[in-house]
Amino acid sequence: MRTFNLPANSLMRSKDFLFGVATSSFQIEGDRKGRETCIWDTFCAQSGKISDNSNGDDACRHIEKWKDDVELISSLGVDAYRLSISWPRVMTIDGDVNEMGMQFYVNLVDELVRRGIKVFVTLYHWDLPQHLEDNGGWLNRDTAYAFEKYATAVASTLGDKVYAYATLNEPFCSAYLGYELGVHAPGLTGVGKGRKAAHHLLLAHGLAMKALRATCPNSLHGIVLNFSTCHPATNNEEDKIAAKLADEYHNQWYLKPVIDGQYPSIIHQLRDVDRPDIEEGDMDIISQPIDYLGINYYTRTVYKATPSDSADVNFGFEIVEPTNTPLTAMGWEITPDAFTELLVNLHQQYALPPIYITENGAAMDDEMIDGEVNDVDRIDYFNSHLNAVNVAIEAGVDIRGYFAWSLMDNFEWALGYSKRFGIVHVDYDTQKRTLKQSAHVYSELVKNRINGTLAV
Ligand code: BGC
Repeated sequence: MRTFNLPANSLMRSKDFLFGVATSSFQIEGDRKGRETCIWDTFCAQSGKISDNSNGDDACRHIEKWKDDVELISSLGVDAYRLSISWPRVMTIDGDVNEMGMQFYVNLVDELVRRGIKVFVTLYHWDLPQHLEDNGGWLNRDTAYAFEKYATAVASTLGDKVYAYATLNEPFCSAYLGYELGVHAPGLTGVGKGRKAAHHLLLAHGLAMKALRATCPNSLHGIVLNFSTCHPATNNEEDKIAAKLADEYHNQWYLKPVIDGQYPSIIHQLRDVDRPDIEEGDMDIISQPIDYLGINYYTRTVYKATPSDSADVNFGFEIVEPTNTPLTAMGWEITPDAFTELLVNLHQQYALPPIYITENGAAMDDEMIDGEVNDVDRIDYFNSHLNAVNVAIEAGVDIRGYFAWSLMDNFEWALGYSKRFGIVHVDYDTQKRTLKQSAHVYSELVKNRINGTLAV
């Protein structure tokens, strides 16, 4: 049987290093009737947007099964659970608190705390209330202020029972995939839209940071960003420049404003019409200190130079699809070394606060045989990536925790239920949860890490 081989003296074996599992509201909750409509409901209802034509109406029926799910999390022995709050469940269309919706999270957080599990709450994991989208969504500056109000309502209810709040999960996905490429909700396209949405998301982050700090001074507050390291396809100077531009456009665009109060220099290549409207004081709001940075990492991306033209979609870089490298079921390259490289580079480039790895994991083509999922490939993925984090820590990067994505199989956005990221298998017909082998191995690591005996 496979095991994880983190070195015996790894700092990740210290009891202060948190191991957790993560989920998000729309991906697991279900109970569509208990909340307002969100942009993902609308997106799912449009034909051809979700590969298996599914939606989040039922998902993992977590709203109904939350007690069992907490029991499951607790049985794994993890230190922490990262969940997200559904904005359309806790706020009404009039902007008041939906008491019933909010009570769900009060109960959930209380139960987790009672069991000694640290709670990491993400306030925005992509499920924007549809009525806000109807007024322009993240293209409308007012949405940032509505987010501030929502964040305040959550924080004043859950308070410091929550160990760490994150304002946003992966604004890259919300802005670029949702408003620029159009492959995520709300499905809009165009560079100008993507960049404007990103600015308002970052503004929302900054406004909420202030509110969270004032409301819950004893919790940690930060943001979760995703990164895919950008590598040149060849050693040619043009490809190196292409990879650097892609890195600025997709990665640094979200981190640099938060840490340094500036957009990366590629902003100057945007046409005037595509530039975000940056009002006086915005960058100060965006760049206030954060207590931690959440980093989500899955894979690297390779770029080559492509002739730039005046079209609004071409900045001189293009993705090169992987060949001859091991891939996950998402078609993503398995590249743990790039994970270490990312962490070390960010540490060198920026004055960062402590880091939590808030997501890392893999969709694999799981097979259930005789009631068991022996997901060796996922175990290998976790093992190599945990070791990649360990190498970064040894190189001096301050990393305080690691969350496996995901606790359980769930709604994988535009790919519906066709991709399984869970360490727990979900049978969507019966809603039965079954621990995959990766869950057993992860749990063994977490439970036995301190004395270093990995009896798997
Ligand atoms: C998101 C998750 C998603 C995962 C795998 C991350 O971008 O935060 O919601 O399921 O990647 O695609």
